[in-house]
Amino acid sequence: TPQGPAAAQGEATPASAPREQEGQTTLTTRQGHPVTDNQHVRTVGPRGPVTLENYHFLEKISHFDRERVPERVVHARGAGAHGVFEAYGTVGGEPISRYTRAKLFQEAGQQTPVFVRFSSVIHGGHSPETLRDPRGFAVKFYTEDGNWDLVGNNLKVFFIRDPMKFPDLVHAFKPDPVTNRQDGQRIFDFISQTPEAMHMITFLFSPWGIPANYRQMQGSGVNTYKWVNKDGEGVLVKYHWEPLQGIRNLTQAEAEAVQGKNFNHATQDLFDHIAAGQFPQWELCVQIMSDGEHPELDFDPLDDTKLWPEDQFPFLPVGKMTLNRNPENYFAEVEQAAFGTGVLVDGLDFSDDKMLQGRTFSYSDTQRYRVGTNYLQLPINAPRKGVATNQRDGQMAYRVDTAPGQNPHVNYEPSVLGGLREAPRAGQPHTPYVAGHLVGQTLDRTNDFGQAGERYRAFEPWERDELIRNLVDALAPADTRIQERMVELLTQCDADYGRRVAQGLAQAQPADKQAQAVQDAEQHSEPAQPY
Ligand code: HEM
Repeated sequence: TPQGPAAAQGEATPASAPREQEGQTTLTTRQGHPVTDNQHVRTVGPRGPVTLENYHFLEKISHFDRERVPERVVHARGAGAHGVFEAYGTVGGEPISRYTRAKLFQEAGQQTPVFVRFSSVIHGGHSPETLRDPRGFAVKFYTEDGNWDLVGNNLKVFFIRDPMKFPDLVHAFKPDPVTNRQDGQRIFDFISQTPEAMHMITFLFSPWGIPANYRQMQGSGVNTYKWVNKDGEGVLVKYHWEPLQGIRNLTQAEAEAVQGKNFNHATQDLFDHIAAGQFPQWELCVQIMSDGEHPELDFDPLDDTKLWPEDQFPFLPVGKMTLNRNPENYFAEVEQAAFGTGVLVDGLDFSDDKMLQGRTFSYSDTQRYRVGTNYLQLPINAPRKGVATNQRDGQMAYRVDTAPGQNPHVNYEPSVLGGLREAPRAGQPHTPYVAGHLVGQTLDRTNDFGQAGERYRAFEPWERDELIRNLVDALAPADTRIQERMVELLTQCDADYGRRVAQGLAQAQPADKQAQAVQDAEQHSEPAQPY
């Protein structure tokens, strides 16, 4: 085995090659120097002082000083796993090519490697996994046409329908900038002035807001995407992951009992099941709608606060995902993984969903800051297919994105000197016609309360009881103006919903305030809007 500085600098020794010596691997510095003393700094005599030229010590400590990178601004706590996606080749009994030309879906049994990262949203990288929070469900498909990221959540709807509001939403849920504590008053100050959030809030404060673990939860792309076929025709689609392990949620009391013993239970559950060969699986389903505004519906198909009713838009299975391999290194694979809604392959497209477009800027923007300019050169993010670009240099450039036969002098296009060429088109382009006034406006069909009320009524009684209890607990410390606004909004979803929260709040308050709160709620009580 080559040893010493000269060998380490030579091309023949890859950085990862181990150095064997007497059956053990020798510790080296990052410069490849074998380390003969890893126990002592160099000092003047045994009692010090320390000298400054102690290169090995300085390198070791200064790398340690830089071990952390900024964590994700949201979804910081996560767990990941590798696996495979297997296509069915059909959708709703028809060849899938009728709707999309995306290669990964075409053939029954066709396999695509994937990497998945599950997460919770609001708190930091080591926060408890039992908190009431949406869960992230981000999948990177390493397809033959390059990567496709499906960046979803467990819940199928979202709090807001305009990306302008996202930083405010997140600030309201994050800890108070003074006390550094999450605060129901701040959350509901924002939410009580965001009527479109009622549907999401109804899910979040029910047991659906605390999935039992990552294996037994659904996933959803939430936003509306498009599929495009070889003729360039588009349809609107929504994506859903259905767990073959079933769905399990926790009550608040169950979550507290889990947290008392183990605040990493979801990460552990995923890792242990995969390590034991019990591989979790999800079926990928889509809902399809013809492209257009659909004035016959009482919601806009581009509104991510709404579900597409399953009786009109059935869930159609298109493939199955199996997670079968744990990461070898958490930081390299899970922490540095970078998913984004802009990462689509041919045959998959954006819809006009404003949230989707706002998100598409945000992900790669934050990743250039969080991971670095060349984050796509890291093995977890790089496509398996190979990359040949004219992008060069930048911090931490790890290699040149060149292809065999590419003239290394030509890092521009077009060129007749052996540079890279544009690819032929796979099919007709999808060219939707767009015209209108530039405005800052909300969608016409808001219908903020209809589906929230339906959800409230569809819950099982114990889920409804939990929802009321959890909302009352979170709202009880809030300012009366905020409580009143929330009761008013919930009453518009369903009269019983508003009344029960008002009663709960009245009981949670000192006696003199109780009568007033019930009286106020009765004044606001109107019949629920028909959905
Ligand atoms: C992560 C922005 C809405 C799902 C992130 C990150 C940002 C972000 C900046 C951190 C990414 C990173 O550091 O790598 C936004 C914006 C949104 C939005 C601006 C709205 C305008 C949503 C919605 C969903 C979602 C609606 C669910 C469909 C996720 C997931 C992650 C994430 C799953 C974690 C990805 C991972 O595991 O690395 N988001 N987000 N986000 N977001 Fe969003």
